[in-house]
Amino acid sequence: MSHLLHIDSSVSQTSVSKALAETFRRVWAEENPQGTVTYRDLGATPVPHLTEAAVVAGFLPESMRDSEQVDAMLRREELIEELLASDIVLISTPMYNWSIPSTLKAWIDQVLVNGRTLSFDGSPSPMAGRPATVVASYGGGYSPGAPMEKANHCGPYLETVFGQGLGMQVEVIAAQLSLASRVPAMAHLVPIADKSQATAHEAVANRARNLASVPV
Ligand SMILES: Cc1cc2nc3c(=O)[nH]c(=O)nc-3n(C[C@H](O)[C@H](O)[C@H](O)COP(=O)(O)O)c2cc1C
Repeated sequence: MSHLLHIDSSVSQTSVSKALAETFRRVWAEENPQGTVTYRDLGATPVPHLTEAAVVAGFLPESMRDSEQVDAMLRREELIEELLASDIVLISTPMYNWSIPSTLKAWIDQVLVNGRTLSFDGSPSPMAGRPATVVASYGGGYSPGAPMEKANHCGPYLETVFGQGLGMQVEVIAAQLSLASRVPAMAHLVPIADKSQATAHEAVANRARNLASVPV
């Protein structure tokens, strides 16, 4: 049996990235019926941005925190415990302004704490080696070799956070060009966008199937 932490971050009700996450969940549940899930919808219920008290508390031993810092750290700990309790992490994200939604960034800022989830001295994170799957939707095209490739601060950024920061085994699966169906100037790209989405769903299903078969 394994435990999945699933985080959605789009504000949309017709979200492409949430649909990709749903495909992951469906296949993973089929293959792993005993599995359990913690779910957060950051688009609907954001977590707070970091305050000074929360940052300082992350660097202080418990005994030296004042009451404001204790409260701020309790909030961080709730999110950190959810992360540490997971065997597998699934993050879905839209591209907003070439990056991730600020709600997802706020969650990342809350959970990355030196000595809890990562370390500045090179010792491994407790999350090291666990799988993280990032499913993303981009309105434009950011495939390797595309003119906008280097403007993509969404998937590659999350690869840095979960791979470099937490030492997890990350795979990023992105559907490209979702705006093609809504922007008249991009209408000629609709067939490529449809293919990109179908390929992404297939890759997500394969990823979920493979992860469900890995013993934890
Ligand atoms: C606030 C906002 C900003 C966006 N910025 C970009 C962008 O910088 N580049 C891009 O390719 N698409 C951009 N888009 C389009 C989204 O990436 C696209 O609609 C994507 O499918 C959203 O993911 P979702 O369907 O999971 O909500 C933006 C959309 C919104 C709502």
